[in-house]
Amino acid sequence: MDPKVSKADAALDKMRAEKRLKSVEDRRVASEVFDKLTLETLYKLANNGYLNILNGAISTGKEANVFKGIHDKGHIVAVKIYRINTSDFKKMQYYIQGDPRFKVRTNNKRQLVNAWVNKEFRNLNRCLEADINVPEPVIAKNNVLLMEFIGDEDGNPAPTLRNQPPEKPEKCFETLINAMKKMYHDAKLVHGDLSGYNILNHNEEPVIIDVSQSVVTDHPISRELLERDIDNIIRDFKKFGVFATHDEIKQKIIEK
Ligand SMILES: Nc1ncnc2c1ncn2[C@@H]1O[C@H](COP(=O)(O)OP(=O)(O)O)[C@@H](O)[C@H]1O
Ligand SMILES: [Mg+2]
Repeated sequence: MDPKVSKADAALDKMRAEKRLKSVEDRRVASEVFDKLTLETLYKLANNGYLNILNGAISTGKEANVFKGIHDKGHIVAVKIYRINTSDFKKMQYYIQGDPRFKVRTNNKRQLVNAWVNKEFRNLNRCLEADINVPEPVIAKNNVLLMEFIGDEDGNPAPTLRNQPPEKPEKCFETLINAMKKMYHDAKLVHGDLSGYNILNHNEEPVIIDVSQSVVTDHPISRELLERDIDNIIRDFKKFGVFATHDEIKQKIIEK
């Protein structure tokens, strides 16, 4: 046989096999996200007018998937669905235990995830009340959180700061430090996973997301988390050419 043909055949076979694998993988992920109870939750949200269509995946994370949803009135919402099976229960339990707002004393995984989603919803509201730029939450139901979609009118989600560095890094940095300060003093929360991955660049305005693990300032680990957030932000902004020291930033955030 012509060696060129057999090589092409082999490449084609490989492509087909990869495609098959990918569709098996897609199905596995789909069945992991859309288990029976999650589907029921989505149906309920649809029946209550919160959601019409779920139509595009924005992100597949370690614990949650984020989709675009079309709301009844036609506008887009972000739909964050926590996968019960891949959630980190130990972490959730640890963070929730020290939070006086939650009285969940359970080992039940589903109940823990539901509390976790409720925590993200409440944290977003606290941030909004403190005038911090975060997506406005719509509703939390079981393991599903609906919130304002951050993106353009054509449905393109805003990129993360990691993917799209700010055009004016100094200004963006200042805005962020201010947001961290408001979060600390007014919302009385520490983000706990702040970095360029959890900040969206929405037309050059930073929008903070992913506040499920954010803790109240009197949580025993809040100081430790604040120190880590400061380090992450300094490290990411160094890449954008902004230089600051840990102590200087900490001082700015903590002083009234
Ligand atoms: N409200 C939103 N609007 C647009 N995109 C979003 C929104 N929330 C999350 N995303 C996208 O989904 C990704 C994952 O969301 P995130 O809340 O950080 O979950 P994870 O726990 O998986 O990190 C984000 O990096 C962002 O690209
Ligand atoms: Mg995230």
